[in-house]
Amino acid sequence: MASDPRATRAAAEISRINAFFPIMTILGNRWAASRPFQGKTIAISAHLTTLTGALIRELSLGGGNWVVCSSNHATTDHGVVAMLRNNGITVYTLGNQNDAYRQALDHKPDLIADVGADIMSTLINERPDLIESVQGGVEVTRTGISKLRALNSIPIGVVNINDGKLKPAIENRHGVGEGLWHAVQSLTGMHISGRRVGVIGYGPVGRGVAAYARANGASVEVVEPNPIRRLKAHYDAYPTPNLPDCLERVGIAVTCTGKQGVIDTDLVRQARNGLVLVNAGHGNDEVDITGIKAASSGIDQVADHVVRYTLEDGPTVVVLADGNPLNIVTNAGSPEPVLLHFALLGLTLEWLAEKKLKPGEISVPVELEDEAAGIALTALGMAHG
Ligand SMILES: NC(=O)c1ccc[n+]([C@@H]2O[C@H](COP(=O)([O-])OP(=O)(O)OC[C@H]3O[C@@H](n4cnc5c(N)ncnc54)[C@H](O)[C@@H]3O)[C@@H](O)[C@H]2O)c1
Repeated sequence: MASDPRATRAAAEISRINAFFPIMTILGNRWAASRPFQGKTIAISAHLTTLTGALIRELSLGGGNWVVCSSNHATTDHGVVAMLRNNGITVYTLGNQNDAYRQALDHKPDLIADVGADIMSTLINERPDLIESVQGGVEVTRTGISKLRALNSIPIGVVNINDGKLKPAIENRHGVGEGLWHAVQSLTGMHISGRRVGVIGYGPVGRGVAAYARANGASVEVVEPNPIRRLKAHYDAYPTPNLPDCLERVGIAVTCTGKQGVIDTDLVRQARNGLVLVNAGHGNDEVDITGIKAASSGIDQVADHVVRYTLEDGPTVVVLADGNPLNIVTNAGSPEPVLLHFALLGLTLEWLAEKKLKPGEISVPVELEDEAAGIALTALGMAHG
C-alpha cells in the first residue's frame, strides 16, 4: 500500500516534538516493556491533532485494542488519522459525530477516555447494556465533567483529570494562553501590543489568556460573573466591566467560559466596529455564529479561518476559526503543556487497567500527578535540578 504523505508529515512532526520534550517516548518505552493494556479494549475521543497522535501511538505500544474517534471535525488532522490507521488503530472521523461514539462503543470498551464526556454519555444514554463491563473512564475537560455532574448519578467510575493540580495550572493556563495569541497573530497578522483585549471568563484558561495578552503588551479587561474570580481579576490589576461595556470598547474578545451562547447577536450589534471574536473554550457555541450569520448582510472570507460579517444596521465583526477553540484548530503554541496532561491521561489509563472503579467521579490520584510531573522534569532534563 502506498504510504499517505499526510501520515508521513504527521509522523515527522511528532518526531520533532519528541526531540525536544521526550515525555511520550519515555512513556512509550515503559508501556512497550510492561504491556499494561494487553487484552483490553480502550475507546478514546479526542481532538485528533499531532499531539493526541503522539499519545495514542505510544499508548498502543502497551498492547490492547485502541479505538479512537474525533471529538470535533474542525480540529481533526487527517494526517494524524492516516498515521494512526497505519499503526493498526481504528479511527472513526466521518459522518454524524454521534455515530463515531456509537461505533466506538460497538467495540465493547473496558476503558474510556473522553474530552467532553461524549463516549461516556452515549454509553449511559444509549448502551446501558455495556456499562457493567466498563472498568472506568477518564475525563479531561471542564465541559465533560459538567455534563457528567448534570446526570442524576454517574453509573461508571470516572477519574476527573481536569480538576487535578496539574492540568489547570499548566495546560489550561500556560498552554492555552501562549498558543492562542500565536494563533491570533499568525492568522490575522495583528501585533497584540497596544490592542484592547476582553477576556470573557476568568478560570484557569481565561487567566492564562489574559496574562499572555498582557505580557504581549495588550491592554486587558476581564468579564467574570463569579464574585471570587472577579475579585481575583481585580487584584491581578485588570478592569472588570460587564460584557456589553467590554464589547463596546475592546478590539479583540476571547471567550473562555465553556458555556453556550455567551456572546449573542444582540451583544454583537452593540459591539465596537471591527471587533475580532475568538473562542478558547472547548466547544464551538460560546459565540452565536449561526445568529451572526443570519443577521449579516455581508459575509467575507478574509483568509483561512478568518471571516468578516457585516451586520445589518450594525458593526462588522471578524470571527476566527468559526468559533471553534482557536489554538486547537490551528495546533498553535508549545506542545509541552498538552503533552504533560496527556502523560497524566496515559498514566491514569495504565492505573485503571488493573482496576474496576466504583460508580461516580473521583479526583485523579495525587501519586499519578506527582509521577507525571516527575517524568516531565526528566523530559526537560531537570530531574536532578
Ligand atoms: N482551548 C483549549 O486548548 C482548552 C484547554 C483547556 C480547557 N479548555 C476549555 O476552556 C473552557 C474554560 O476552561 P477553565 O478551566 O478556565 O474553566 P472554568 O469553568 O474553571 O472557568 C470558566 C469561567 O467562565 C466563567 N463564566 C461562565 N459563564 C460566563 C459568562 N456568561 N460570561 C463571563 N464569564 C463566564 C465562569 O464563572 C468561570 O469562572 C472550558 O470549556 C474548557 O473545557 C480549552
